[in-house]
Amino acid sequence: MEVQTSAGRYRDQDVQALAVTVFKDEKADEGILKELDEAAGGVIKSAIESEELKGKEGETVYIHLASGGGLGARRLLLVGVGERENYQPAQVSQLAGTVARFLRGKNVKTIGLITRAEGDAEKMVAAAAEGAIIGLFEPDKYRTVEREERTIERLVVIAEGADEEALKRGAEKGRIIGESVNFTRDLANEPGAYMTPTDMADRARNIAEEFGLNVDVLDEARMEQEGMGALLSVSRGSEEDAKLIILKYTPREASAQDEENLLAFVGKGITFDSGGISLKPGENMELMKYDMTGGATVLGAMRAIAQLKPSIPVLGVVPASENLPSGKATKPGDVVKAMSGKTIEIINTDAEGRLVLSDAICYAKKLGAKRILDMATLTGAVSIALGDVNTAILGTDQEFIDEVIVAGREVGEKFWQLPLDKEYTKQIKSDIADIKNVGGRKAGTITAAAFLKEFADGVSWAHLDIAGTAWGDDAKPYRAKGPTGIAVRTLLQIVERAARSQSDEQKTEKPVANAS
Ligand code: BES
Ligand code: ZN
Ligand code: ZN
Repeated sequence: MEVQTSAGRYRDQDVQALAVTVFKDEKADEGILKELDEAAGGVIKSAIESEELKGKEGETVYIHLASGGGLGARRLLLVGVGERENYQPAQVSQLAGTVARFLRGKNVKTIGLITRAEGDAEKMVAAAAEGAIIGLFEPDKYRTVEREERTIERLVVIAEGADEEALKRGAEKGRIIGESVNFTRDLANEPGAYMTPTDMADRARNIAEEFGLNVDVLDEARMEQEGMGALLSVSRGSEEDAKLIILKYTPREASAQDEENLLAFVGKGITFDSGGISLKPGENMELMKYDMTGGATVLGAMRAIAQLKPSIPVLGVVPASENLPSGKATKPGDVVKAMSGKTIEIINTDAEGRLVLSDAICYAKKLGAKRILDMATLTGAVSIALGDVNTAILGTDQEFIDEVIVAGREVGEKFWQLPLDKEYTKQIKSDIADIKNVGGRKAGTITAAAFLKEFADGVSWAHLDIAGTAWGDDAKPYRAKGPTGIAVRTLLQIVERAARSQSDEQKTEKPVANAS
């Protein structure tokens, strides 16, 4: 799909369908709805008066126009978006996703989208482009019959009277973000056989080459040298070698101060989690191909960062491994030594995510990270606590946590903080080693984070448990079922906010320097 923008009149657009926002309880007696209603011979008024269209979020009314009534398009889609005062880029993104999916289903090829968003036109167009691209993703890559073959060829985002250049910039930004979210979803959706740690490392190398990032991939020999006993213990049962994938984005004019404040994203990359010797039950085990979603999220975000070129450096670290049983596999009761020097008693080989992350966090610190955000499909318990609506966030730096929550809100991704009091650490005390890798039945998501916290000393750290939100069991009007790409947009927003506050700081520092 090609995303175009237009600052011209919606009437003049050469498109098959026009899609337009309707706010909650809105009437068709003024503004654009009135104009469209006149062009459509009164059908909009009738849909509203009959209460078929109330402007509720996600509501759709689809109309064929007998004659154009002065419109280029012969079809009209009205989409409810809820309250006007809550209408932000996140809602525009969902609106565009709904529009793209709905009209693709009607075999429409060209769409004009009237978002009716006020304020920053660049942001609005970016949200619309991103939302439409995300909306059109389908997880049916390996289907050979009844595949979704229909495509939208052209989407024109219309903002009458807006600055053309701003619209173009927005469309480009939205394209980069939307495609990167879909990149993450594609990786998460790949069967384990096609997405081994080596495959994941290859994907990372590809994006590094295509978009310009530094890349390094540690093989198991180098992991041995670094003393990464926790990560290596997870891959021991597998024929596939583990890989520790490092991507680094450095802006053209990076200052020493930027490096001192280095932000790192670390993502769990278990390309298949069978549980290992503590084998999982067979039911739904196929889903454990998505246990590398945290890693895919980091790769997707780095892919976008390389193109968006923010003014701060960003590090991405992905420990990739399979977790399989075999005669060589780590056994419950074994003790391993992590890179940090801490010894870990393995109680359950299915609690492997925290093991690979612990060494990855240490390595991120070794590479100079000062702020670390890790993300992982870490615990089944998080789905019990928060379902598929909120992603759990925990950590040691409240300011950083708040920053993530706010960034998430700005892009329409919800995070809910769980507590991480020091008392929880008692649950992971081991009788024979420093710590153990499970903390009992109570507070599973928290004790998993308490484990990670043992390796995050000396840095500002937060952790996202995306096990409940990374996979959608049902399709939404704006998104297919399957991998959701959760958190990619939030990571990008965090980077954008950090870059902005850094440049604000430099601006306020300058006058002082000049005065001296
Ligand atoms: N990858 C799983 C967590 C998971 C479960 C993700 C369901 C997505 C959906 C993780 O490695 C795991 O198995 N965790 C165990 C930990 C337990 C053994 C302490 C769990 O949550 O049951
Ligand atoms: Zn597991
Ligand atoms: Zn796992």
